[in-house]
Amino acid sequence: MQTIDGLLDAIKKRHTITSDYKLSLYLGIGQGNIANYRHKRSMPNAEACEKIAKALDMDPDVLIVHFEGLRSRDELTKAVWQRIGVRLQAGFASVTFSLVLATIAAITTSFSPNAEATAICSNQQPLHIMLSQSNTDSWLSCKSIFLPLLVSCTLASAQPGPARNESAMQETRDIAAAMLKELSQTLQAAMADGGAVNAIGVCKTKAPEIAMSLSMKHQVQVARVGTRARNPNMGVPNEWQTKALDKFQSRIAGGDKPYDIEYVEVVKTGAYDLELRYAKPIVLQPMCTACHGTPDQISPEVKEKLNKLYPNDKAVNYKAGDLRGAVIVTRFLSH
Ligand code: HEC
Repeated sequence: MQTIDGLLDAIKKRHTITSDYKLSLYLGIGQGNIANYRHKRSMPNAEACEKIAKALDMDPDVLIVHFEGLRSRDELTKAVWQRIGVRLQAGFASVTFSLVLATIAAITTSFSPNAEATAICSNQQPLHIMLSQSNTDSWLSCKSIFLPLLVSCTLASAQPGPARNESAMQETRDIAAAMLKELSQTLQAAMADGGAVNAIGVCKTKAPEIAMSLSMKHQVQVARVGTRARNPNMGVPNEWQTKALDKFQSRIAGGDKPYDIEYVEVVKTGAYDLELRYAKPIVLQPMCTACHGTPDQISPEVKEKLNKLYPNDKAVNYKAGDLRGAVIVTRFLSH
């Protein structure tokens, strides 16, 4: 979980601020308040969260909800805030996407992503028709008008230096891998403990918790989506995630191993902001069929519970080896 010290220090580092006194001036938050946060005497209120989030290009609501959760004294209220936080993070990528009105595509070399990875640099210009065209088409058709933008975009993404981008990329890969590993371990333990009926609850609450805790720890947004979703609020991919899943499907059909492929997009979301969007395939394992397999593989008890919790469940009839979905990591890259 990202601490308040971590957040304040991240602002200092990002904006090359050398003291808490200067930080207080920069944020417009009293020096006494900053000292109180540092000494755990108080936590930032909504107004301070807005200021902190702005300095870090984060969604302020995520911070507000995070601190409300920490403030809560009883477990139930804590859990409620945590759930809201998870929902917020899940919706965040799609909200950001809808803000992007135009796309200028370029393959940037600074990320050197694996296999199918694509880097897209886009700008908030009124050119959203481009979204429906292929990258090459949009690049060719708009290069004369948007060459300067594209160049500044590409330069911007290269500016932090290949080493820094590469380390952000590697950290992102590690976060996705940690999410997959923790999910699988938690599920295995729950299945061994009380069987599939019991594991449903664990899957429902633990998966978002793991995503939330990785998100807070690394200041990113972690989520998971399905090719066919069980949870209609959190499991449905947005546009770019659907594109990533489609690419995964065709690569896997072409014989690529899911473990070797990933999807990367870099989008310019503001004058100074680049958003890195990362997806890694989730493949169905034999043990998953107890809840995502064909009707004969799912026990009547599990079916009953799933029907009750997810009346519009689409996440069934998968076979081991099928693409089940993706782990999603989105983050801001400063430049
Ligand atoms: C015990 C039953 C159970 C098992 C076993 C299980 N899942 Fe799930 N899975 C669920 C439930 C319940 C949800 C919906 C969770 C929620 O509400 O977000 C879900 C959701 C998901 C999602 C999110 C997208 C969506 O459909 O909402 C993915 C991806 C996923 N499961 C993959 C897997 C994989 C891969 C395995 C095996 C490693 C697996 N599941 C095993 C019950 C299970």
